[in-house]
Amino acid sequence: MREVGIGIAGFGTVGGGVLSILENHAREIEARLGARIVVRRVAVRDVAKERAVALHPGLVTPRLSDLLDDREVEVVVELIGGTTEAFDLVAGALRRGKHVVTANKALIAARGDELFRLAAEKGVDVYYEGAVCGGIPIIRTLREALASDRIQALHGIVNGTTNFILTAMSENGEPLAQALAEAQRLGYAEADPTLDVSGGDAAQKLCILAQLAFGARLRPEDVLTEGIMQLEPADFAWGRGFGYALKLLAVACRVERAEGEVPGPDLIEARVHPAFIPQASLLAGVRGAMNAVQLRSDALGPSMLFGQGAGALPTGSAVVADIIDLSRNIVASSPGRVPLPPSTPRVQLRSHDEIRCGYYLRFSVKDVPGVLARIANTLADRRISIAAVEQRDQADGGGAVPLVIVTHRAREADMRGAIAAIDRFDTTVAPSRLIRIEEL
Ligand SMILES: NC(=O)c1ccc[n+]([C@@H]2O[C@H](COP(=O)([O-])OP(=O)(O)OC[C@H]3O[C@@H](n4cnc5c(N)ncnc54)[C@H](OP(=O)(O)O)[C@@H]3O)[C@@H](O)[C@H]2O)c1
Repeated sequence: MREVGIGIAGFGTVGGGVLSILENHAREIEARLGARIVVRRVAVRDVAKERAVALHPGLVTPRLSDLLDDREVEVVVELIGGTTEAFDLVAGALRRGKHVVTANKALIAARGDELFRLAAEKGVDVYYEGAVCGGIPIIRTLREALASDRIQALHGIVNGTTNFILTAMSENGEPLAQALAEAQRLGYAEADPTLDVSGGDAAQKLCILAQLAFGARLRPEDVLTEGIMQLEPADFAWGRGFGYALKLLAVACRVERAEGEVPGPDLIEARVHPAFIPQASLLAGVRGAMNAVQLRSDALGPSMLFGQGAGALPTGSAVVADIIDLSRNIVASSPGRVPLPPSTPRVQLRSHDEIRCGYYLRFSVKDVPGVLARIANTLADRRISIAAVEQRDQADGGGAVPLVIVTHRAREADMRGAIAAIDRFDTTVAPSRLIRIEEL
């Protein structure tokens, strides 16, 4: 039987999962591939380290270059993480005509274009299903299953850590710090959770998805990104009253140009932020560390993928599926069968100022006559129309009362201007809170 030799760089969480799946599912994989996948080398940093999954000592090397130099390694599987050594390894593999599988979202989001160009030049492939939403086959769905369709909108819960935290805050009324500590204790959050709670991780993933869905070329810093650290249990309770659940959403969607916007190519919005979504929506039911991506496309209509977005076996399953797909290409001598996304953008990103959505606003104001009217006038001056208002008359110790306003769709820059003006009122006691609303 034909053998396809692979070299695995990195044998941590995902690397261990990959080898377990290759060993435990060897029969099924051989039957589906018509060839045998053989691990030729495994590179780690510390060869003496105890491993959760047993490794044949003859395979292990501390040198990444051994994978590149081994002529029997046809596919390099990059699972070391980071963007420096990983870039050198992947670029080195492509230059030598080896195919690459990676689960490294940071690498693909930051330097995917360079790597895709190099791969095309050398007639080899880069597959990266594990880089977004772990085991959920969202990349394959966008590249292959929906190749016939035109995607209009993508809404994702693509970060399990923050979804775990928000679920705990919503269901148990826990403050954020407590929910985060629990996530860390259970291994859902890193000791330094900044990339997750800032929305940065989700923004990296959104860039990768928006390229596949819309032909966008975005850097994470192009995406309007807000994290979850400002959220308070009170916001969940208010939102529930209006029929909403609160999630950290990654959103990319085609939008019509509004009057006054400069004409040009197709326009998309790309943003990551906490969002109120209808309680009855499928995404609202995505609890704990689970991930989901909802798509809306012209031919299929709405569809959703749901599953585990991280972990050894879920991510390992995506990586092994890529190894199998690449091996099929190798066996059939058809590299580049599914072309990599082009680096020339096909759409334009709408500026953050021009983004439009509904807003939930929570003001902390002095309980004196005329406050509501003044806020309403400030919003109206900027063409922001109010959908609902709620005020609780009970003042807290400092004499402040919460006032919550839900608006119809408004322009981001108008909303920011209004909030800045309202925060300067002598009747405003604390900075106002803003959460965007997605009706999905
Ligand atoms: N963990 C997940 O659930 C998950 C989900 C989706 C995507 N990913 C992505 O998958 C990749 C791997 O993540 P992970 O969680 O498996 O990481 P990990 O547990 O920290 O493992 C990293 C592995 O890489 C090895 N390594 C690091 N630098 C190396 C170098 N210069 N030379 C040789 N080996 C080196 C380490 O060796 P030692 O063991 O000797 O230290 C370790 O085995 C990352 O890009 C991550 O973003 C992870």
